[in-house]
Parts: sequence; structure tokens; C-alpha cells
Amino acid sequence: MALLPILRYPDPRLHKIAAPVEHVDESVRKLAADMAETMYEAPGIGLAATQVDVHRQVIVIDISEDKSQLLTLINPEILELAGEQVCEEGCLSVPGVYEKVSRAERVKVRALNLRGESFALEAEGLLAVCIQHEVDHLQGKVFVEHLSRLKQTRIKSRLAKQARITA
Ligand code: NI
Repeated sequence: MALLPILRYPDPRLHKIAAPVEHVDESVRKLAADMAETMYEAPGIGLAATQVDVHRQVIVIDISEDKSQLLTLINPEILELAGEQVCEEGCLSVPGVYEKVSRAERVKVRALNLRGESFALEAEGLLAVCIQHEVDHLQGKVFVEHLSRLKQTRIKSRLAKQARITA
């Protein structure tokens, strides 16, 4: 396994649209394993392939405390959204920024697992937020784009300043 570099907002590559995976083969399983390692190392609770500059529809999520519930979603498709919740979100591509975002409270999603089998999953609360956040990434959308233009501008300039200090 290997740690993968994570793209940082406002990198334009975060806006690429991910293509569906045609065959769940060894390369996809390797990508998912590397993504999981990268997510745990960060640490984070979700990572989309887009964030590691691979534009294929692969997501890893683990909202458990003890890293015991790794969920891999390949070609995720949201079937149903219901209710509403406001949750403070962060993102490994937007370090240090936490903002409230309004999302559906419940989500039903269909995806392929690492064996290429189709399954459906119903989630609520934090897991539902996480799935919506990561599916957004595959569609080229970063969570800050749910915020006002003013907030987005502030976040961009703050991250640009941080990047200068780090460099
Ligand atoms: Ni994110």
C-alpha cells in the first residue's frame, strides 16, 4: 500500500468529473486500499478518488472510532434523499476549514463493492452526510461550494496564505 498526495482546494483538478469504473479489477482494489490508508493516516473519515487526482468513481469512508468499518463505494449512485440536517463539515482537501452545510438527513445509495457486486445502502446522520460529501467530490464539487460566495472567497484567500507560509 502507499500514501497518496491529497489535492488542496482551490486546485482546479478537484473540479474534474470522475468516470465510472468499468471493471473492478486489481488496479481498482489497489487504488481503494491506498485511498483507505491515506484517509486513515490523514486522519479523515472519507476520501474520494478525485482528491488523490484519480478521476474514477471510487470512495472510501469510515466513520467508526476504531477504523473498523471501512466502506468502499464504487460507481455510487444516490437513489433517494430525504429530510434535512445541518452538520459542520471539514475536508482533507480544505485543511483547517469547518463550516455548516445543509444536506439530506437520509440517503439511499447503490454502488459496487470491491468484488464488483452491486449493493444498496441506507444511511442517516453522519454517514449520510459523508456519502453526500464524497459523491459531490466525484462530481467535481467541494463542500465549500455549498457556502455563500463571500465565504468561499474568504476560504480561498486563507488557504492561499497558508500555502505561502508552508512553501
Ligand atoms: Ni472532502
